[in-house]
Amino acid sequence: MAKYSSVDEGFVAAQLDRAGRHLFLCLGPDCTPMAEGQATWDYLKRRCAELNLPVMRTKAACLRVCVGGPWLLIYPEGTWYGTVTPERCERILQEHIINGKPINEWVIRAHPLCG
Ligand code: FES
Repeated sequence: MAKYSSVDEGFVAAQLDRAGRHLFLCLGPDCTPMAEGQATWDYLKRRCAELNLPVMRTKAACLRVCVGGPWLLIYPEGTWYGTVTPERCERILQEHIINGKPINEWVIRAHPLCG
């Protein structure tokens, strides 16, 4: 059964109209144990809500890197962060998402997709 009664209701729930970034987090199982990926996901989800961040977030089953996770991929910048623990997640939210400054020492790749 559909979670929402209309496509528009789904877009509202996804925060499409207010989102400035889209965060994809791989929970494993190959890049990281699923329990560690899930812990980071739970933290990311909770903190995005608490901080009312203008982001979309998506739980990914695999981002095709398959080592060095959990991976957090942020668009539109195309910033790839590896080994994202809940503690690292907090700093990424504060510095990259809120203040707009990627944490360069943690960025593994920067690859924006611009067509
Ligand atoms: S399982 Fe995480 S990148 Fe493949």
